[in-house]
Amino acid sequence: MAEALVSVTINGRRHALWGEETEVLLTVLRDRLGLTGTKNGCEVGHCGACAVWVDGLPQLACLTLLGSVADRTVTTVEGLAGWWRTLNGNDAYHPLQTAFVDNGAVQCGFCTPGMLMAGAALVRDRPGATAEAVRESLAGHLCRCTGYEQIVRAVLDVAAREEDPA
Ligand code: FES
Ligand code: FES
Repeated sequence: MAEALVSVTINGRRHALWGEETEVLLTVLRDRLGLTGTKNGCEVGHCGACAVWVDGLPQLACLTLLGSVADRTVTTVEGLAGWWRTLNGNDAYHPLQTAFVDNGAVQCGFCTPGMLMAGAALVRDRPGATAEAVRESLAGHLCRCTGYEQIVRAVLDVAAREEDPA
């Protein structure tokens, strides 16, 4: 296995990480960097709990190798509010985080980081998304508490606001 020094920006901070290029990003985030917001639900791409953004696009950290994120940017749930604040020059949480609370979309919270990362990408890229589009984009994300209706409602709330910010 090839060891290498991998440079990657995570939540706005540059890291130089020495390790196997085949090391799984989920392990790097949780075990080496202490970013435990990204959850380990299955390790094989079936549950969506480990979703992060790589260069702004949702990606499963359990199926992502360290070498593949060299010189790229990774955003985890810990960085979502910071990303939003940088974009808008305010000190607020991402509106989807607030909408999850307002809609009762968090129960045990295990699926929440993955749902937030997928949902935030959707409302950014598809303002005014329909319920069908929201369900489609969250299809790979499992909620063992079965709070799907509240989660979809939270994403729809924000998607509607993004379409008509007034
Ligand atoms: S932990 Fe990655 S999809 Fe389940
Ligand atoms: S809130 Fe418990 S898994 Fe979704």
